[in-house]
Amino acid sequence: MVTGAGVSAESGIPTFRGAGGLWNDHRAEDLATPEAFARDPALVWQWYGWRLGKCRAAYENVAHEAIARLERAKGEGFLLATQNVDGLHRRAGSDHMVELHGSIEHARCNGAGCGVVTELPADFDGSAPPHCEICGAMKRPHILWFGETYWPGTLDVARRFAPYADVVLVVGTSGMVWAPMALAAEAQQAGAKVIDVNPQPSEVSRMADEWLKAPAGHVLPGLLDAAGIP
Ligand code: OAD
Repeated sequence: MVTGAGVSAESGIPTFRGAGGLWNDHRAEDLATPEAFARDPALVWQWYGWRLGKCRAAYENVAHEAIARLERAKGEGFLLATQNVDGLHRRAGSDHMVELHGSIEHARCNGAGCGVVTELPADFDGSAPPHCEICGAMKRPHILWFGETYWPGTLDVARRFAPYADVVLVVGTSGMVWAPMALAAEAQQAGAKVIDVNPQPSEVSRMADEWLKAPAGHVLPGLLDAAGIP
């Protein structure tokens, strides 16, 4: 299973592209690259603090709950690879998952040779960049930025799973970031059926075997009911 920002849209968290998308009025080059952070860490932290506030105030929706339900039914044979950093899958009960692009609830020490990952405090609002308790260097958001490579234990875990999948559900992603899409493509080449859930056409709907053209919250609970999944 692969998810993107669209699965959290019904929780009120903005997507990146399309109507109301973050990249319509924010430049990724100013906020989501290592160069942007080197240039203006305070600005980057303010933006992530604002997004963190939105994620903390949001509630998981019926689509997140259906995905957790699918995991409970499928057990070890299920893997969720999410591009979302909002933590809503985990709050809905998903556990067998990789957060490909990191977690907005976490920061990572940016000091050379340190890199310790810590949870951000409950009162963190991004108004001042946090510093490492161990080495004193500034921390950065624990998020994959443009121009960076996936860190070990994320994409490679999902890639090991892909050739064994019978079905890959792809929910709420434009498919504009290629690596998560490559997971679905690899599984498809190995014989899996790819099903896209998205109200809009996308890179995914073009390659999928089936396109369920509707919001995730409208489709997923009924899909599980129809498949007899408790
Ligand atoms: P996008 O914003 O690119 O795409 C969101 C998709 O969700 C769109 O195709 C929408 O049509 C669809 N959508 C909207 N509401 C939906 C709903 N209720 N149910 C189902 N689908 C819905 O978000 P991502 O594909 O997740 O990376 O973006 C991929 C990555 O690009 C993000 O993780 C982020 C971004 O730059 C980083 O920040 C590293």
